[in-house]
Amino acid sequence: MFVGLDLGTSGVKALLVDGDGRTVGSADATYAATHPAPGWSEQDPAAWVAGVSEALAALKAAHPQAYGAIQGLSLSGHMHGAVLVGADGAVLRPCILWNDTRSHSEATTLDAMPGVRDLSGNIVFPGFTAPKLAWIAAHEPEIFTRVSKVMLPKDYVVWWLTGRYVTEMSDAAGTAWLDVGKRAWSDRLLAAGGMRADQMPELLEGTDVVGPLQPDRADLGLPETTRVIAGGADNAVAACGVGALTEGDGFVSLGTSGVVLAGRDRYAPRPESAVHTFCHAVPGRWYQMGVVLAATDSLNWLSRVTGQSPSALSDALGNTLGPPCPTKFYPYLSGERTPHNDAQVRGGFTGLDVATGPQELTRAVMEGVSFALRDSFEALRSTGAALNTALAIGGGSRSDQWTRMLATILNIPLERPDEGAYGAALGAARIAMCGMTGANPKEVMTKPPVKDVIDPDPNLVAAYDDAYRGFAAAYPTLKAMP
Ligand code: XUL
Repeated sequence: MFVGLDLGTSGVKALLVDGDGRTVGSADATYAATHPAPGWSEQDPAAWVAGVSEALAALKAAHPQAYGAIQGLSLSGHMHGAVLVGADGAVLRPCILWNDTRSHSEATTLDAMPGVRDLSGNIVFPGFTAPKLAWIAAHEPEIFTRVSKVMLPKDYVVWWLTGRYVTEMSDAAGTAWLDVGKRAWSDRLLAAGGMRADQMPELLEGTDVVGPLQPDRADLGLPETTRVIAGGADNAVAACGVGALTEGDGFVSLGTSGVVLAGRDRYAPRPESAVHTFCHAVPGRWYQMGVVLAATDSLNWLSRVTGQSPSALSDALGNTLGPPCPTKFYPYLSGERTPHNDAQVRGGFTGLDVATGPQELTRAVMEGVSFALRDSFEALRSTGAALNTALAIGGGSRSDQWTRMLATILNIPLERPDEGAYGAALGAARIAMCGMTGANPKEVMTKPPVKDVIDPDPNLVAAYDDAYRGFAAAYPTLKAMP
């Protein structure tokens, strides 16, 4: 038996699978983020360990026998967060999360330093870890001087479980302190950010075994033989969960944020495209992705202002895809990562008419998010990553209309997985399995069974292509808005 823990921003999911990767059971626990100032987003690491304890206790209660046979446990985690611990191991302040934009000016400064993009393979985005530490140095110097170790969120849980300060390549790649091509901490990048190598956790590969549980964790009731495996960053681990390891394999995710991800056999960075180039959670591989910050979050926003649930808004459109909507939506509710790297830009509607109603607004929101994903898709293509088809995952892909629209705008078929477990929790369980058995990740991390394939509508591809060009041309105007 193996457990995958998916440590997300709003909660943790624990998935128990057998040696063939079949689901035995799952359990969830939730926790909240706090927003002490505009653009700030923080979480108390104690909430993660409470959530993990709760989810594991629920698994144990529901499946006592299988729980007693757990061999390996691994984690997927939300990326980039800065967990700061002092010499005594105590957390110095709440974790600053991936979606916190307070350090945008520190990010710009670091990003402009010679060699930083070359070594890290990426733009230093405001959400990344290095600019957060630069912000702490400037605004909370008394905390900065006490930082003994900087940990990423899931690595804090690994430390709590095992007592070891470790991280692994896929999460380390999102700090802007890692030489992503060499898979090693970079002294130059650390120095650029005012950090020291001794403040970094030991670097492992995602499938490396970290060790047994420390004696204090006996209350979890796991067997003494259970081992913790290093795990990975959420998108990398989700890719392990859907078999996106290698060239040509990838997914489009319509989640809170939107992601277009492609597995890569080689390191082919192109930071100027604002594509993220990160180490994969398995050795010797990388992945690249474009990130749209507000995907289903844009529909959630429309839901809040209209007072209708996202599914009611979506259902009202029916299943037939029509031509592009004259009303346009620009989904920059929280700024944008790919391709604009712009934390300040904000979204908007154009083409509003006295006849525009909730249905047109919903269509416009779905189109705007799909066009933003096309932006990411084009950026990904510019790195040499080729996706001729992709899996469609995330809550938004449950909508037939939205998935058909996205397939037409990307002009590739989208495959929707069967119901059942896939994604980050399964990816983490698969990592645990590979770590414990030495199995080849390619054999274990296969594609899920496909429920249906949504093809582009050939009669509408050209019209949506034109509409996409109009969408892309509007960004400079939005950027210039006061
Ligand atoms: C990736 C990113 C998100 C977070 C939250 O760069 O910021 O995927 O890990 O899910």
